[in-house]
Amino acid sequence: MQTYEDILVDSVQDGVLTIRLNRPEAYNALRTQLLSEIADVLAQAKDDETVKAVLITGNDKVFAAGADIKEMASLDAVGVMNDPRPAHWRAIAQFPKPIVAAVNGFALGGGCELVMHCDIVIAGDNAQFGQPEINLGIIPGAGGTQRLIRTIGKSMAMQLVLSGEFISAEQARDFGLISEVTIPERSFERAMELAKKIATKPPIAVRLAKESLLKAYETTLDSGLNIERKAFTMLAATQDRNEGIAAFMEKRKPEFKGK
Ligand code: HXC
Repeated sequence: MQTYEDILVDSVQDGVLTIRLNRPEAYNALRTQLLSEIADVLAQAKDDETVKAVLITGNDKVFAAGADIKEMASLDAVGVMNDPRPAHWRAIAQFPKPIVAAVNGFALGGGCELVMHCDIVIAGDNAQFGQPEINLGIIPGAGGTQRLIRTIGKSMAMQLVLSGEFISAEQARDFGLISEVTIPERSFERAMELAKKIATKPPIAVRLAKESLLKAYETTLDSGLNIERKAFTMLAATQDRNEGIAAFMEKRKPEFKGK
């Protein structure tokens, strides 16, 4: 894996590729460079069979404080229109393998939106989530208004986006924005534990499960159930499904091959 300017990429560990946001001097503000580096790593990880899951984390004080306000300041309407960042966000949103996040400290604006691009989120009890864009005269621009309302419901989404107030890790968990709260020292370890566990599961089933679950955001129940049924049917043609069922019958651990 090559060296990047704004992120650190650990070598793959038991199927898990770890990306660490690494602009501590700017509270991991998501400048274009940083987003393009994440997109680049994911593009490689997508085709790398040794990568079964990705873990994204920040540092102990901040996950990401949002878009880089200093960079944003130089963009006029045409600049925003031609901004390459939406394509990088799309690459994250369309990444087919599971992404687990370990969040400590601030996850604000684009940082909170990055959290919503991740599939499972573990946060330290020092984490704070918010969409403070309103204080800058703008609104969330990486899916925040759409994903937030689908994730935490109308009233709390409105509260966050209109008031710019932050919520705690416990509140975020209670509203379903994240799944677990730990002490800050354990969030990474717990996220890694989960990512490694997912990495042992049959990859095609994992991929189709993620795809089916995410479809629930954008389809009717009927069409979502149809997508689920097709995925379920397709899995009947995989070797891993035969292996999983055979291993159960023979009371042994399955050996999944992604086939
Ligand atoms: C650029 C940032 C930054 C940001 C912090 N910094 N957030 N730089 N963009 N989003 C820089 C500060 O300028 C400062 O550097 C250093 O990080 C530490 O920040 P402080 O403010 O001194 O720290 P603190 O007092 O602890 O306050 C932390 C904070 C505050 C509450 C997180 O920094 C803050 O409110 N940041 C902005 C959060 C925000 O509005 N996010 C939404 C951005 S818009 P220097 O060198 O000055 O000391 C957005 C739109 C998304 O995300 C659109 C799609 C991507």
